Order: sequence, then C-alpha cells, then structure tokens
Amino acid sequence: MFLITGATGSLGRRIVRQLREQGQPVRAFVRLLSRYSELEDRGAEIFIGDLRQDKDIAKACQGVEYIIVAHGSDNEAQALDYRANIELIEAAKANGVKHFVYISVLGVDRGYEDAPVFKAKREVEKYLIASGLNYTILRPSGFANNLLPLAERFRDTGIYLLIGDPKNRSSIVSTDDLAKIAIASVRVEGAKNQIFAVGGPEILTRETIPRLFGKIFNQEPIIINTPLLVLDGLRAGIGLINPQFQRSLGTFRTLLANEFFCTSSEIATLESVYNIKLETLESFIRRYLGGTQEIF
Ligand SMILES: NC(=O)c1ccc[n+]([C@@H]2O[C@H](COP(=O)([O-])OP(=O)(O)OC[C@H]3O[C@@H](n4cnc5c(N)ncnc54)[C@H](OP(=O)(O)O)[C@@H]3O)[C@@H](O)[C@H]2O)c1
Repeated sequence: MFLITGATGSLGRRIVRQLREQGQPVRAFVRLLSRYSELEDRGAEIFIGDLRQDKDIAKACQGVEYIIVAHGSDNEAQALDYRANIELIEAAKANGVKHFVYISVLGVDRGYEDAPVFKAKREVEKYLIASGLNYTILRPSGFANNLLPLAERFRDTGIYLLIGDPKNRSSIVSTDDLAKIAIASVRVEGAKNQIFAVGGPEILTRETIPRLFGKIFNQEPIIINTPLLVLDGLRAGIGLINPQFQRSLGTFRTLLANEFFCTSSEIATLESVYNIKLETLESFIRRYLGGTQEIF
C-alpha cells in the first residue's frame, strides 16, 4: 500500500493516477472539502484527514509500505512543510515503512533565510536522512503544469506577464515525469538513500517561455516585464496589514529572484538512474493544450 499526501494536488493527483494505472493499492490522504472523487473512481482508498492533526497522520500511516509526500502548504510552512512531515517520518518509523519519498525543492540547500518553505524542507531533509528509514529525496525545479494557465491566457490574448529578470534560467520539469520518478524511487536500487535534483531536459531563460508559447500557438508574444521592485513594494504594503502573509510571500519572491535549473550532468544522472527520457516543456504544453497528444 502506498500512502500519498497532497493527493489532490497537481503532483499528488498524477502520482495516484499512475499508481492506479499500474494496479497498485493507494491510500490518498485528502481533506474533506477537496475534490477527490476522481481518485476514488480510479480505485484509490480515500483517507479523509488534515495534515495539521497528528492523530490523522498516525492513522493514515497504519499498514502502509511506502509513503510519497507530495502535499503543499499555502501559507503554513511551519505546520505543513515542517511539522506534518516530521510526524509523517515518525509514523513511518513506527509502522516499519519500507521507503519514504520526499518532494523537496531545487535550491533547498542554498540557505535562503527569507523563504519559509525552503527552510522547512531543508530541516525535513536532515530529519529524514537521520531517521534510519530508506528514503529518496527529490528536489524539483518549477512544475510544467504551473505554466498551463499562463499558456491558456497567452493563447487567448497573446500577453505574457514576466516578473523579474528575463535572463534568469530554469529547467521546468514535466509534472508527469516527476510523478513517474517519485513512484519508481521505491524500487530503483540506485535511488535508495539518494538526493536528486529533478528538472526538465533543457535550461530555459524566462524570456524563452513566451517565445515558446508564440511558436506553439503561432502568434507573436506581447511580453510585459515587471521588475521585482514592484513585488517588493506590494509586499511591504501587505506587511502593514498581514505580517504572516508578508513572510510567506518571501518564498514566492525567492523563486522569482533566483535561478533554479539542473546541470546537464544532474539530468544525465537522473535519466540513467531512472531509465527515463525527460519530456521538454514544449512537448508537455502541446500534449495538454495543443491537442496533438493525449490530454489527461
Ligand atoms: N509547484 C511547483 O512548481 C513546485 C516546485 C518544487 C517543489 N514543489 C513541491 O512539490 C509538492 C507538491 O506541489 P504541488 O504544486 O503539486 O502542490 P499543490 O498543487 O499546491 O497541492 C497541495 C496539496 O496539499 C494538500 N494540502 C494542503 N494543506 C493540507 C492539509 N492541511 N491537510 C491535507 N492536505 C493538505 C492540498 O489539498 P487540497 O486539495 O485540500 O487543497 C493539495 O492536495 C509541494 O511540497 C511543493 O512544495 C512544487
């Protein structure tokens, strides 16, 4: 039995779908108010709970062999990115879980002080490594599905809003590939007790993304480039009203202000360990929006 947290999220949903396609038993940890009927229809066992509740975590982990942690946190890094994951690790130990797959983030080890999610994930990584569990830590770059709404807006308007430095590089990962890698981590020998940077096969500057959309939808992009200073001004204003939200925006700012890409040797390692050919961003967008390949 696999336990998947964040099973209704963009990554978690894909993990559950792929596991069910393989006929694997899955327990999907979901909240009562989230949209989980698709997962139920696919044959996943639905566990209703809240990751802020230790009792729910202890119960969800009973009888599972593998855990894949794929939940997010909105603005609650302390409760969800840190505390819930520590509880999941402890519950995994108590239940003799065979392998624990943790979705971290690329750049987690760079010591960003202003980014609560990065700090929490770094501490969880250290805790997991010291736990004695078999683990795989995946540090992905930005997910390709984040770009789908932007691509749809571009298709309708030709407009692309680019915040920050257009020359910043990233290696956007196909969310479907990441799901595949997360699942394979429990059986691939070379993934045991390892940390992998996970990105797409190419390094893209931010400004190449609207150009790629232009190529896919056959129209000239109108790029509106907003400097980071605008976000900083907004954030300072928000801080006067809601200091907690201002702090959580630190993670967003860190993502916009820095480069998150995998080196070619990191990509080669990933492709060789997992025996996978990573999908390009163009292929991902065409598959979902271009109508040339199957749409999930
Ligand atoms: N997105 C990216 O570009 C990116 C890049 C690098 C790393 N990551 C990491 O990858 C992981 C997955 O990201 P994602 O984009 O797939 O996340 P997402 O789409 O935002 O989904 C978050 C999931 O967490 C669940 N969740 C939130 N609070 C919960 C709670 N209190 N109890 C139970 N479930 C709760 C949500 O449930 P509901 O449906 O009920 O809201 C949802 O299923 C995260 O750890 C994220 O930090 C993401």
